[in-house]
Amino acid sequence: MSIPAQDISPFAARRKRLLEAMHAQGGGIAILPTARECVRNRDAEYPYRFDSDFFYLTGFPEPEAWMVLVAGSQDRQILFCRSKNLEREIWDGYRIGPDAAAEQFGFDQAYPVESLSDELPKLIADQPALFVPLASDRLFDLNLRTWLDKVRAMGRSGATVPGRTYDLRAILAEMRLVKDASELETMRRAAAISAGAHVRAMRAARPGMREYEIEAELLHEFRRHGSQSVAYNSIVATGRNACVLHYRAGDAELKDGDLLLIDAGCELDGYASDITRTFPVNGRFSGPQRALYDIVLEAQRAAASRTLPGARWNEGHDAAVRVLAQGMIDEGLLAGSLDGVLESQQYTRFYMHRTGHWLGMDVHDVGDYREPGPAPAGDTQRPWRTLRPGMVLTIEPGIYVRPADDVPERFWDIGIRIEDDAVVTETGCELITRGVPVAADDIEALMK
Ligand code: GLY
Ligand code: MN
Ligand code: MN
Repeated sequence: MSIPAQDISPFAARRKRLLEAMHAQGGGIAILPTARECVRNRDAEYPYRFDSDFFYLTGFPEPEAWMVLVAGSQDRQILFCRSKNLEREIWDGYRIGPDAAAEQFGFDQAYPVESLSDELPKLIADQPALFVPLASDRLFDLNLRTWLDKVRAMGRSGATVPGRTYDLRAILAEMRLVKDASELETMRRAAAISAGAHVRAMRAARPGMREYEIEAELLHEFRRHGSQSVAYNSIVATGRNACVLHYRAGDAELKDGDLLLIDAGCELDGYASDITRTFPVNGRFSGPQRALYDIVLEAQRAAASRTLPGARWNEGHDAAVRVLAQGMIDEGLLAGSLDGVLESQQYTRFYMHRTGHWLGMDVHDVGDYREPGPAPAGDTQRPWRTLRPGMVLTIEPGIYVRPADDVPERFWDIGIRIEDDAVVTETGCELITRGVPVAADDIEALMK
């Protein structure tokens, strides 16, 4: 993946924070590889995507790269990367090479990746602790075992292996949960591109088109603004397909009178966006469609109003569920009292997912949804995470109605989701994906 030349200071600042966290545990060595290339079939590979944690700390886009940090009496920052190789560069493209990489990406040293097995045992020897991705990749575990065996063999000359191990990914997940200014800037740009793509899809849609034609409109808009990839496979689902939560863009025909649900977002410079809009193929909501649509939008508003510093992670979901459940009762989808429906969770028949997730480099981003540390005395579970400025999450309530004898027929096969990306601010939240209309009247006006 080619990423434009960038300011390296945010990456250097993140490595410095990681080194501080390592020092707080008594120091040691952190070892982190980027993602491997992956063959699709014979000589063709999947488009390359770096490991999110690795890129977060380095900004280095090439495969076959490793980051090593030593937190000791003197800190060291080391990068291992592919050597320059004229033959390979003619076929596959430019390689930065260790000499330029150290300078360009702010490392003390950079070595060719071929020297990893010679250098790592020397670097690991006598370190008090390892900071590594814990039991997450067989090949990494095998490498680590080999290097530790080499250090053990050096034991006769007095070298010791680290006595403690920390899960590097857990430390980084906690760091990545609160986005820094440069991340928020990129996420806003990604959100704006995706919003533009949804606008384009609304303008293009008309009866007789196929789902894949709408997907093509989205991809066109992502790519022409420099997005390197989709953040996840686009969902373009018309009619009853909208009730399949993980539907892709298929070849179904967009029919007059049906809705179209689009859940699509681009990835830009390593950051995801994630938007869902649901709109009528012919540009006008029917009565039953509009009734459910307005309930979902009201649920989203309720969740957004509970997305603010100091609120707990679950508050948005609980607020959305109250509105959805009441709406389901009002429209005859469910019978009983609001308290009864909430207590029995009958609403999960039509709303079966959570109202959001963390968003960042990964579309379902890293970060614990509960507070770190032990559960309070007398509680079996840790409390839900308290929201802080700089956290980013999606807000995505929905209603999905499958045909059934006890369900009013006018709602059959209607699937609606509305999803925006929210940045927690000092006073509330900012929906960064509102470059595409969301109110039913505004959507109808745009599609006229
Ligand atoms: N598109 C994935 C999600 O909404 O979670
Ligand atoms: Mn989402
Ligand atoms: Mn989504």
